Amino acid sequence: MWKVFLTGATGFLGGELAVALSKTDRAEKIACLVRAACDAEARERLEGVFLLHGDAYDPDRIVAVAGDLSDDQLETRLAGHPALKDINLVIHAGANTSFLKQKYPVLVETNVRGTHRVASWASQLASLEAFAHIGTATIAGAGEDVMGKTLGEDEPNLSARHLVGYTRSKMLAEVTARAMIPGNKLTVIRPSILLGDTRRVVPRSFDIAWILVAIKQLRMFFCNPDAVCDIIPVDYAASAILRLMMGHRRHTTYHVSAGASATTCRKTLEAIDYEESGKPPLAFCSKSDLDLMKSWLRNGDPDSALSMYAEHIAYIRCGLGKKKARILLSGLEAYWPFIDLSQRFDNSRLLADTGIGLPEPAHEYLKRTAVYLQDIDPIEAASNP
Ligand SMILES: NC(=O)c1ccc[n+]([C@@H]2O[C@H](COP(=O)([O-])OP(=O)(O)OC[C@H]3O[C@@H](n4cnc5c(N)ncnc54)[C@H](OP(=O)(O)O)[C@@H]3O)[C@@H](O)[C@H]2O)c1
Repeated sequence: MWKVFLTGATGFLGGELAVALSKTDRAEKIACLVRAACDAEARERLEGVFLLHGDAYDPDRIVAVAGDLSDDQLETRLAGHPALKDINLVIHAGANTSFLKQKYPVLVETNVRGTHRVASWASQLASLEAFAHIGTATIAGAGEDVMGKTLGEDEPNLSARHLVGYTRSKMLAEVTARAMIPGNKLTVIRPSILLGDTRRVVPRSFDIAWILVAIKQLRMFFCNPDAVCDIIPVDYAASAILRLMMGHRRHTTYHVSAGASATTCRKTLEAIDYEESGKPPLAFCSKSDLDLMKSWLRNGDPDSALSMYAEHIAYIRCGLGKKKARILLSGLEAYWPFIDLSQRFDNSRLLADTGIGLPEPAHEYLKRTAVYLQDIDPIEAASNP
């Protein structure tokens, strides 16, 4: 029977993992690290995770442990917590997932040092049987060698070029977990891009999903619409992770990804019905168009090279507003080069070892969850990408 310690339970993936764990009779205890002032407040936050989709919170099996990955005393606190003495499975899904450049110090503190703290405590547990480090497939980076490719589960490349500090911090976090947890106990699980849910339920998070809504509002798209997008639904990711951790594994590292089910932005946007009456059609534009648009939005008249987008310029001037367009473009800035990477992550290890089957393509399942996208305020999301 598993006695689990889970980090990130109030997040998109961690919330799904907490609920999925509570539904298996193989988890005797599910102790969740939650940011809060005390265990009672942590429990209140955790109960909210279960409440979202009406799942039962079983207080006899679920333990909320207040704690912060960035706390220097975390290891001591975990070691002293009576409910954590017999933990035999750690699932470390907590992380700061911000794409903001100025957050790099927090990303290092939370993702790299936080992993060190959790791994250091876990490695001292006599009862530890398995440690799942939730990484990300995007640690592959953005070099020429990894663009437009189907990537396998290679070792982290310390010299890889990264588009944002987040992926770099996750690469360093994985290296930390590998250094601290014995190889026979460690499983590194690297999801690709999590977006939405296959069920007709409100997704736990609109991270990434806001990009679709932002593009729908902006009516302009500044990268290759046919680039491969390896997107998976969060419920599939949680189910794959639990199958991996509760079954027989032949490898240390696994992608949890779409693989052959990967889609494209064009298909994904079409699935959410991006055409809207009274608004210009979605325009697929170049990088130089992007620079000209940014310069027009900052000041002055549109460059003559933008004349082919006269309808879009009029819409921004008189409908959306230049300020909103500027905010959307600034939030989307980090994502265009990601899309252009056109990466697919090989999932044959996952499929072979779990028998889970390919996930439904994003352009299919998103048709069901598109209704919830209407609740997203892309301006708010773009301000804190
Ligand atoms: N989303 C994706 O597309 C994606 C793709 C690949 C891999 N991943 C990985 O999957 C994992 C989960 O991602 P997610 O999308 O679920 O992220 P998320 O929704 O942003 O959730 C992050 C979780 O980590 C917790 N956390 C953040 N800082 C913390 C701190 N200092 N101390 C304690 N807990 C802290 C958050 O708690 P609060 O509620 O207190 O903020 C939240 O529970 C991460 O390791 C991420 O790198 C995500």
